[in-house]
Amino acid sequence: MKPKVLVTREVFDEVLEYLSQYFEVTSNQSDVPFDPETLAMRLSEKEGAVVTLSDRIDTSLLGRCPNLKAVCNIAVGYNNIDLDACTKARVMATNTPGVLDDTTGDFTWALILATARLLTEAETYLRKGQWDGWKLKQFLGLDVHHATLGIFGLGRIGQVVARRAIGFEMKVTYHDIRRSAPEIEQSCRASFVNKDELLSQADIVTVHVPYSPATHHLIGKKELEKMKPSAILINASRGGVVDDPALIEALRKGTIAGAGLDVFENEPKFDPGFLELKNVVLAPHIASSSRATRHRMAMLAAQNLVAALTGKTPPNLLNPA
Ligand code: 8YV
Repeated sequence: MKPKVLVTREVFDEVLEYLSQYFEVTSNQSDVPFDPETLAMRLSEKEGAVVTLSDRIDTSLLGRCPNLKAVCNIAVGYNNIDLDACTKARVMATNTPGVLDDTTGDFTWALILATARLLTEAETYLRKGQWDGWKLKQFLGLDVHHATLGIFGLGRIGQVVARRAIGFEMKVTYHDIRRSAPEIEQSCRASFVNKDELLSQADIVTVHVPYSPATHHLIGKKELEKMKPSAILINASRGGVVDDPALIEALRKGTIAGAGLDVFENEPKFDPGFLELKNVVLAPHIASSSRATRHRMAMLAAQNLVAALTGKTPPNLLNPA
């Protein structure tokens, strides 16, 4: 008999076909996210699961899934998984690092350029039929070329963003919990600065850290007040790294000039205050969403699950025994 596994959200057919070679698969191609009770019921008999950020994997869930051996996240971020609880329950947890760095870096640049050059506001104006002719002082944006880019978190994605900045001939600074190796700094042409220096000097601040209690509200009222009034903030990491109400207040008051956001606190029910602002570019958590990359992410999660349930060490195991 094949082990029983659950795939909690819609995935590509090829992923289900691959998993079906090894497992009896229950899928959810209707893609309606499971509430915690439904997830617990669907998972109670299963040995493994492919999950996403909409599934909370915690002690109470694990207590109801005695056969569970592995949960494989389709995401590099895994703040939806309580890793300690998994380790205690002897459940392997995996993520999908590496395969989405370039795509997420590209999208960060889409947000940087769109926010700096007021693209959402300008397009809305055009679509509403308000364009009545060329004006010298119309939609005056911020120059990206030769500007200073400040990166919080020079990990895999932060490095991609930094390397893309070379083409724009920018000055790149970064801050992280620890300084990167000299060869990384050189390939990114990035200089290490402290948090306050980064905030006060950058024209564009972009955040690429994982979400954890340590990074909760890394950017809040105090930090926003240290930024230049002409500067913009970009977040394609996780909601909660930025204090959204504080950001809305700063954008309303002109403490900073704009923000480009792919992630929000309490997704998908983000703060409606953002919708009233003109100086924001908003996206529904799609930074990794190219066809090729989402395919790779889902396949990697499936490969992790196959390894975990066939006695091998999954390539992206987060909690080795
Ligand atoms: C995912 C992400 O699409 O990988 C991550 O951490 O934020 C996105 O690329 C999302 O988390 C789906 O689970």
